[in-house]
Amino acid sequence: MDAKAGPPELLAPLCRTAEDPEWPCSRPRRSPCSRTSTVLGMLAVLGLGLVTLTYLLWQVPLPRTWHQHLEEVSPESWEALEGESGQQRDSCQLVLVESIPQDLPSAAGSPSAQPLAQAWLQLLDTAQESIHVASYYWSLTGPDIGVNDSSSQPGEAILQKLQQLLDKDITLMVATNSPSLSRNSTDLQVLAAHGAQVRQVPMRQFTGGVLHSKFWVVDGRHIYVGSANMDWRSLTQVKELGAIIYNCSRLAQDLEKTFQTYWVLGAPQAVLPKTWPQNFSSHINRFQPLRCHFDGMPTMAYFSASPPALCPRGRTQDLDAVLAVMEGAREFIFASVMEYFPTTRFSHPARYWPVLDNALREAAFGRRVRVRLLVSCGLSTDPTMFPYLRSLQAISNPSAGISVDVKVFIVPVGNHSNIPFSRVNHNKFMVTEKAAYIGTSNWSEDYFSSTSGVGLVVSQRAPSAQTGVQPAQEQLRQLFERDWSSRYAVGLDGQAPGQDCVWQG
Ligand SMILES: *[C@@H]1O[C@H](CO)[C@@H](O)[C@H](O)[C@H]1NC(C)=O
Ligand SMILES: *[C@@H]1O[C@H](CO)[C@@H](O)[C@H](O)[C@H]1NC(C)=O
Ligand SMILES: *[C@@H]1O[C@H](CO)[C@@H](O)[C@H](O)[C@H]1NC(C)=O
Ligand SMILES: *[C@@H]1O[C@H](CO)[C@@H](O)[C@H](O)[C@H]1NC(C)=O
Ligand SMILES: *[C@@H]1O[C@H](CO)[C@@H](O)[C@H](O)[C@H]1NC(C)=O
Ligand SMILES: *[C@@H]1O[C@H](CO)[C@@H](O)[C@H](O)[C@H]1NC(C)=O
Repeated sequence: MDAKAGPPELLAPLCRTAEDPEWPCSRPRRSPCSRTSTVLGMLAVLGLGLVTLTYLLWQVPLPRTWHQHLEEVSPESWEALEGESGQQRDSCQLVLVESIPQDLPSAAGSPSAQPLAQAWLQLLDTAQESIHVASYYWSLTGPDIGVNDSSSQPGEAILQKLQQLLDKDITLMVATNSPSLSRNSTDLQVLAAHGAQVRQVPMRQFTGGVLHSKFWVVDGRHIYVGSANMDWRSLTQVKELGAIIYNCSRLAQDLEKTFQTYWVLGAPQAVLPKTWPQNFSSHINRFQPLRCHFDGMPTMAYFSASPPALCPRGRTQDLDAVLAVMEGAREFIFASVMEYFPTTRFSHPARYWPVLDNALREAAFGRRVRVRLLVSCGLSTDPTMFPYLRSLQAISNPSAGISVDVKVFIVPVGNHSNIPFSRVNHNKFMVTEKAAYIGTSNWSEDYFSSTSGVGLVVSQRAPSAQTGVQPAQEQLRQLFERDWSSRYAVGLDGQAPGQDCVWQG
């Protein structure tokens, strides 16, 4: 099939998903689609005899990767979807957003995504009824962390905007981790005084991790997701990447179900449900992504979640989403993450956990996929990370077509040393030639097994007509390449025992 020109049926301006909630959150061996096909195949066999059997067995689809799924969407399935009742017309629009720390001029430049501070204000401006925010912690003002610096202003503007919206009777619901990382912050008291509903989720007692997600659902139809917490430093001092999706109620209402899991766990005397009630189930996942048009582009998208205990039926686990995107790559995997450890980070004794490491090695070795890993390097970087990075890079053998490159991204501290826990690349994304993955997790075991996070997987096909908008994965690739080739991305030094994360330039 021509990858550029989608079938005309794909151009219907509908956002639909099939109605099959009956899947476990565990990694299914076969998608329901292939299960159904198998059953149909067997019935036909009984009726039509041996010749048909041979033919059909050849036709029975194997478990598919998510992008094969994109390639195989048939006109019939689109017609079936359009025939459903209760259809909802969305016109989803995806915008990549990012934050470039101050005084990092050459890291901005072209290409660039929409500045996060501007994007957040714009998203708040569209709010008419409700804003639901999940954030690890809040510190939107300088005084929250005892810092007097003009770069806290954009964060303070966001806090002010939220107060204004509350005063206009817009609902604000906040789920955040307990105990709070920013104990001196008064943001949530200020907002509660204006009517915000706040639930502090003692995630450690439920899963042993923290509530580490960072996303908003606005009016049940717009979404923000990305690496940024509700922290003024995320707008001016920390490098962040995320996405905003406008006018996409199907996806927004699906992400809202994850918000509701936090809401339940933040209630007094909450217990972690053994199985989540049916209305928390997701119908949008790795095997049945939302299929519709974003900006005229055929798009597939879904949200994953972690940890498994917070994945009701039908919700793809975050680790499975990451692995599926890696396994689908045939040309390249570029990942930009804050931290990379093929181990646990918080459990004692630590466990070796080579799941993502193996997947990258397998892609590079087995399929000759070009792998690039850009990891953050800052004052708080644990130097025990470097042996793992060197080990991964060590399998690179360009003459054999095995290409694995690792670099660290250093944000110079410059004259901002008065601001603690800033000046780092906090990105958590991955891009292949097929899909973009925008997540909230560091890459080590705990983030997938006990810490709560979400991931957005998007795959778009360029429209047949020139519209000027490029597929999300192509936009994200360009942002990655910009960072990768910037002066702040530094190769691993083969000699030094630990990498020096102090900017020397
Ligand atoms: C919180 O405030 C106390 C007292 O002012 C101070 O000692 C402490 O360092 C502050 N903590 C943070 C994280 O800012
Ligand atoms: C913050 O710094 C500015 C200028 O550097 C100064 O004018 C102001 O008084 C300071 N505010 C506080 C609360 O210290
Ligand atoms: C969302 O849809 C509304 C009406 O359907 C439209 O006015 C608005 O411009 C859309 N917003 C975006 C960002 O596309
Ligand atoms: C499921 O239904 C219950 C009871 O009506 C409601 O309180 C809860 O918010 C619903 N959950 C979701 C995710 O819709
Ligand atoms: C900090 O450094 C930048 C350039 O590196 C400069 O433009 C800015 O004026 C400096 N700010 C202060 C307060 O010294
Ligand atoms: C990710 O890793 C960093 C570095 O160890 C750690 O400080 C941070 O708390 C972790 N989570 C976030 C905020 O991404």
